[in-house]
Amino acid sequence: MAVNNLVHVNECGLPLNAVEWLVTHHRSKAPEREQMIRDLNFKRGSLVVDAGCGPGLWMPLIARAIGPEGRIIGVDISTEALVTAQQRNTRKWYRRMVEYKRAMLEQLPIPPGTVDVIFSANVSQYLPDPISTFAAMGRYLSPGGFIAIKDIDFGTMRFHNIDTGLQARVFQARERWEQQRVDEGYAFEDSWVGSKLAGYLREAGYEDVHERSHRIVRRYPLSKDLRSYLQGIAEWFVCEDAPLLGRDDLTSWLRCFLDEQHSILNQDTFVSEETEFIVTGTWRKMELGTPQTPAEGALPPLHSPLFLAR
Ligand SMILES: C[S@@+](CC[C@H](N)C(=O)[O-])C[C@H]1O[C@@H](n2cnc3c(N)ncnc32)[C@H](O)[C@@H]1O
Repeated sequence: MAVNNLVHVNECGLPLNAVEWLVTHHRSKAPEREQMIRDLNFKRGSLVVDAGCGPGLWMPLIARAIGPEGRIIGVDISTEALVTAQQRNTRKWYRRMVEYKRAMLEQLPIPPGTVDVIFSANVSQYLPDPISTFAAMGRYLSPGGFIAIKDIDFGTMRFHNIDTGLQARVFQARERWEQQRVDEGYAFEDSWVGSKLAGYLREAGYEDVHERSHRIVRRYPLSKDLRSYLQGIAEWFVCEDAPLLGRDDLTSWLRCFLDEQHSILNQDTFVSEETEFIVTGTWRKMELGTPQTPAEGALPPLHSPLFLAR
């Protein structure tokens, strides 16, 4: 099957990764994201790696938490995201605290044993082997450091004014499609990953694993950002031609979000909810070898089949 009908895709072939989309998503959940960072209780002066930093949207929140004596390294595989992040950084009060580097999560561009916090938001859903990736990241933590992985879980998403049968069919069709779609040439995604993270970190070898859940509830009237976020998510649920969903359900679903006359977003009964997960853990494993800091040439090329939908 040809890979088509992707939504908000970035140059690595990942859907819901386009910079504009990430900015809208970030703004629509700003209060919860601020709370998530506060809850992590970063120490002042910490060295933090934002792994899979995208356009650097979490930087001001992290910078505020660690103070001006702290340091942040933003790491991402996407050059486009890093260029945007760098541009966003100019003239910001925290600009001297931050540097951006192109690297993969498994091969961070820093010496092992040196990072106080590895923070990673909305990236684990794209990791085909999250346990191995998290295990590879542990060796970069300093003694007493911790990892914090944050992600969505669409198993927790509900719209109070959409027929429950329709929602269930759309969500189940997407969940089953996520299990099949890699074989059809699409990049890996697990949008149900949030509630699995604690188990993954334990299996990877982390200790003191602690899960926090953040319930995000929104009611009518909706902000412009939230409208755009929900419309993008609605399209994403049925993108790639939604091969496991009936055509009538596909039409009804899109009408709920995109048809101004029938949109549930315009009803004063509108309520949406979803829960996001943030899981922390410490690394106590003894390392036998010392990983090499990779050179730029060690990265997969930007249009590697690893990232680009074939
Ligand atoms: C959904 S975006 C999240 C960006 C940012 N953390 C946020 O929450 O706004 C996922 C980011 O992870 C990056 N990414 C995905 N897999 C990666 C990997 N293996 N190594 C480094 N970055 C990766 C993508 O390029 C993208 O910028």
